[in-house]
This record gives sequence, structure tokens and C-alpha cells, in this order.
Amino acid sequence: MKKACVTGGNGYLASALIKQLLENGYHVNATVRNPDDIAKVSHLKKLEEIGTLKLFQADLMVEGSVDEAVIGCDYVFHVAAPTNLMSDDPENELIRPAIQGTLNVLKSCLKAKTVERVVYTSSGSAVSVNQQKGTGYVLDEEAWSDVDYLMGEKPPTWGYIVSKTLAEKEALKFASENQMDLVTIVPTLIVGPGLSLEVPVSIHMALSLFTGDEMWINGLSAMETLSGSISMVHLKDIVRAHIFLAENPSASGRYICTAVNTSLAEIASFLTKQYPQYKVFIDVHDIPAKAKLSLSSKKLIQAGYEFNYNMEEIFDTAIEYGKSKGMLPKQDHS
Ligand SMILES: NC(=O)c1ccc[n+]([C@@H]2O[C@H](COP(=O)([O-])OP(=O)(O)OC[C@H]3O[C@@H](n4cnc5c(N)ncnc54)[C@H](OP(=O)(O)O)[C@@H]3O)[C@@H](O)[C@H]2O)c1
Repeated sequence: MKKACVTGGNGYLASALIKQLLENGYHVNATVRNPDDIAKVSHLKKLEEIGTLKLFQADLMVEGSVDEAVIGCDYVFHVAAPTNLMSDDPENELIRPAIQGTLNVLKSCLKAKTVERVVYTSSGSAVSVNQQKGTGYVLDEEAWSDVDYLMGEKPPTWGYIVSKTLAEKEALKFASENQMDLVTIVPTLIVGPGLSLEVPVSIHMALSLFTGDEMWINGLSAMETLSGSISMVHLKDIVRAHIFLAENPSASGRYICTAVNTSLAEIASFLTKQYPQYKVFIDVHDIPAKAKLSLSSKKLIQAGYEFNYNMEEIFDTAIEYGKSKGMLPKQDHS
């Protein structure tokens, strides 16, 4: 019986990961900031029906806070990170907590002495933000986002991108200095129904061309401008990839995990053709036709991982979920 710890257990990705681990027969220790906050943990509590799940109170900023949760664990999935993209104080709310929080978790893993591997969740934004001009670039695990540019120009969401880039670099450095087995997984925009009642941000974004919600359409557009593409992976695929990388003895280093690399214009054309029953709220003539770059999942695929969800299946799932949440009409309309 394997035992795993997942940090930030109530989060969108972490709670789906915990569910899959329990279904696979793992015993799971999950850390949450406040186990008494019913609104935040009720979806997690329901998972106790599937298997052995224990919740631990932990704040990443407190050294030693996850000590108890990682004791006896074979794998630790460090998923938690501050994700407030619009923070007014990125230095203190995003960058410092992401780096210090990660180092605190890794120190606890070292102390536990049972942890075979740590899987650290990074982000495509740690790879793709650069100042290259033109199109057609294919980025792999060698690529890192340009922190000097981000800190200098401070484009929207810069603090989150810097936090993910620097925290991943620090995690890899700490692991190398301490002979720790750590792999990092680099997800792009994760799209799929989560376990909590709240609609995930990524679903708002993915469905924005159908809902016409300008804030989210602008969010998608800004993502393409800054990151060079709109790249996506289904929630279930990214969850399976986390477990795949923990269990695969030869895994090492970084792994980009994305099923789709596209542009807003290509998404608009795809949605118009694929789902003619819905109006698409964007004029493709106003936006660049092609994405500047794509992220390559070749390393992950060569290690034996297979994606189950392509663009069509990602949108099929998102649309069904959107209908169930009242974001899209249940009946077709023109
Ligand atoms: N969603 C995506 O599309 C996407 C794409 C690429 C990468 N990622 C990465 O995937 C991971 C999970 O993202 P998500 O979308 O699932 O985010 P989420 O739902 O916002 O979950 C973030 C989790 O981190 C916890 N957390 C934040 N600061 C903490 C602290 N100081 N101490 C303890 N816990 C703390 C949060 O706890 P509270 O609930 O108490 O705040 C929450 O449980 C993150 O590392 C994110 O960067 C996400």
C-alpha cells in the first residue's frame, strides 16, 4: 500500500489528484490551510468515502508545517501555490510564498526520510514567456520564462509567472544540492470539471467565446499575447501525468504536459465549425491567426505517457459542464 501527501489538497488540481490516488488504492495525507473551513474542504471530505484520506493543517510559509503530513509517505505531490493572478502585492503574496513555501515543503520531505520522490507542480508560464518575435517556435524543457523582462516591464500577471519560474528553479536546485529525487511537471491551462461547486477559472476562460464574457475573453487573449499560445490540458490527463511521473522510476527533471497548443483565432474557427449551435463572440479578423509558439510534451510521451483528451474532447467536456452549471443554454440555439 503506497502513501502519498498532496499539498493544497482543497485546490482545483490537488483535489482531483487526491480522488484519483484514492481510487488507485493510495493512502493520502492532504494538507489544507484551514480544515475547519467547510466551504473550502467539504468536497475533499466527501472523498473520505473512497479510501484512507487524512487532512492536516499546514501553511506553506511556516517552516516544518508539513512535517507531520509527509511522515511515512512514499511520494509527495507539492501542488499548492498562491494563484491570485491579480494580486496587488505580487512580491509578498506570490513570489516569496511560492519560493519559501516550496523550500519549506522540500525540507520536510528530506527530514521524513521515507519520501522516494517529490513531484512539484510548475506551470507552462514558467517556460513560455519570452520576447522572441515571429512564429513557429517549439519550446521544450530547456526553455525558461524571461524573469528580467517580467520584473522590468511588469505585464499583467507578471508576479504569478515570476513566482512559478523562480519556485521551480529553486526546487530543482534544492533537490540537486540535497540528492533528492524530484521531478517537476509543467501543466498548461488545465480545463475540466473540478470537484468543488465553484466553476474553475479555466472553464470560464475556455467557454468565454460562447458566453461572451469579455473579462474572460480578454484573459484568454492576454494569455496568448504574453505566453505566445493558448495551450491546454484536460484535468484528468494532468492528474494521470502527476501519478505517472511519481511511479515511473526513470523519470527525472522537468516534464511539459500539454495536449493542445493553439491560438484564440484557431479556437474561434474550431468552435464555429464544431458547435454551430452556439454563437462565437469574437471576430477572427481582429486577432493574430497563429500562435507564436508551442510547448512540446515529447519528453513525457517518450517516457510512455499517453494523452486521453484532445482539443475536441476537452471542449466537449467543458461544454457539458458549462450546460450543467447554467453557463450555456441546455437547448441548442442559433
Ligand atoms: N489551474 C491551472 O490551469 C494551472 C495551470 C498550470 C499550473 N497550475 C499550477 O497547479 C497548481 C494548482 O493550481 P490550482 O488551479 O489547482 O489552484 P487553486 O485551486 O488556487 O489551489 C491552490 C492551492 O494552494 C493553496 N495555497 C496557496 N497558498 C498557500 C499557503 N501559503 N499555504 C498553504 N496552502 C496554500 C491554496 O490554499 P487556500 O485554498 O487556503 O488558498 C489551494 O489549496 C498550482 O501550483 C498552479 O500554479 C495550475
